[in-house]
Amino acid sequence: MTNRVAILISGGGSNMVALAQSMTGDNPARPVLVVSNDPTAGGLAKARDMGIATAAVDHKPFVGDRAVFEVALQETLKQAQPDIICLAGFMRILTPSFMENWAGRALNIHPSLLPKYKGLHTHQRVLDARDSIHGCSVHEVTGDLDDGPILGQGQITVRSTDTADTLAARLLPVEHALYPAVLERFCRGDRTRVTIDGDSL
Ligand code: GRF
Repeated sequence: MTNRVAILISGGGSNMVALAQSMTGDNPARPVLVVSNDPTAGGLAKARDMGIATAAVDHKPFVGDRAVFEVALQETLKQAQPDIICLAGFMRILTPSFMENWAGRALNIHPSLLPKYKGLHTHQRVLDARDSIHGCSVHEVTGDLDDGPILGQGQITVRSTDTADTLAARLLPVEHALYPAVLERFCRGDRTRVTIDGDSL
């Protein structure tokens, strides 16, 4: 069975590109929509260049009314009839009531070794804590921020010379390897955790 996948982005969409490029051949998933809450997101043009349908649901007119924004987002998603949604650098918090629509069918990538460092500024927080390892996680999305069962993690060793920027740059290729691997396994009904040693990529 082919799994129809919608990808939600807010920015450059490098994880979206990695996911979309992986969904070919005997991979059981296909991208059906890339949707952004920012109409100027660079990832929208990248998706169009790859021949994927795109949509923008601008959150700004809905400021102060998250529920109405989510109704618009849900309507847009429904038209593409996805089986699975993948949040990939999607920078809006989604409410528990929106997530009920996608229970067991939504994935997210987060740049930390969850459950550590939910939320923003993860790279700086790793440095501030003097952690020796850092990483990224793909998890099922629930109604709680950066929560839900962890389906895969990739880790890198923190160097004494690292800054938040170098950590982000070194982690991104690990994200690009991890997310497609988890999505493919998830589409095959396999929730065994994927583990990637980012130092050896
Ligand atoms: C990634 O680091 C992702 O983990 C985080 O935001 C970044 C998005 O990058 N949530 P991109 O838009 O996929 O290039």
